[in-house]
Amino acid sequence: MSRRQLVVGNWKMHGSRPANATLLDGILQAGPFACDVAVCVPFPFLSETAATLASSDIRWGSQDCSAQEQGAYTGEVSAAMLHEFGCRYAIVGHSERRAMHAESDQLVADKAKAALARGVTPIVCVGETRAQREAGETEAVVKRQLAAVIHTLAHCAGEIVVAYEPVWAIGTGLTASPEQAQSVHALLRAQLRAASGAHADEMKILYGGSVKPDNAATLFAQPDIDGGLIGGASLKAADFVAICRAGH
Ligand code: 13P
Repeated sequence: MSRRQLVVGNWKMHGSRPANATLLDGILQAGPFACDVAVCVPFPFLSETAATLASSDIRWGSQDCSAQEQGAYTGEVSAAMLHEFGCRYAIVGHSERRAMHAESDQLVADKAKAALARGVTPIVCVGETRAQREAGETEAVVKRQLAAVIHTLAHCAGEIVVAYEPVWAIGTGLTASPEQAQSVHALLRAQLRAASGAHADEMKILYGGSVKPDNAATLFAQPDIDGGLIGGASLKAADFVAICRAGH
């Protein structure tokens, strides 16, 4: 499959101006890469990150965006604001936000719609908890999460990036085996194909959950895994660069 892979660092709530400068410099020194590379950084660092990466092909994004256009929504950041200074991606529906901020499938879908409407590509996260996997509910859970987005976006559904992040694999050191991940990615691709036709074969489905330099290549070799969404390992330039080099 000729899809160009995408490796995205999700810094979560980490970083400082000096640490970011060191990390971004390490990534810039190591490029260019055979795959697309992006970093999703905390809101206060977006502008400085944009300036640092301006003359490179490393892309950048946010970790969330509001479902609202504008108005009395204290603390929210709109897709229009992100787009105004060149934001390429917005992660939406990360399991940490679904769990800690009670984000529903519909809210996640509305955020994806708001991002797309302003030319920001949403990276839509789906994934089951350990209890759901053990109860045999993985397929039903991820399909339900993606269905809300497909239904809300309608003919624009083909414009998103999907990230499969099994909740039990995030920050735990437990990785889904390449076969476990591939089987979920294949069913997500089938669901996208039913909605977007052959275009689904060009859509990127990233894997996230304890991706490290030593497991990235095997995961990225699976036919329906098109790169990764990297948490902890995206904070150390050497590790993130090694993962980016595993992409193609
Ligand atoms: P870890 O790579 O730290 O497991 O985090 C994955 C993740 O949540 C990326 O969004």
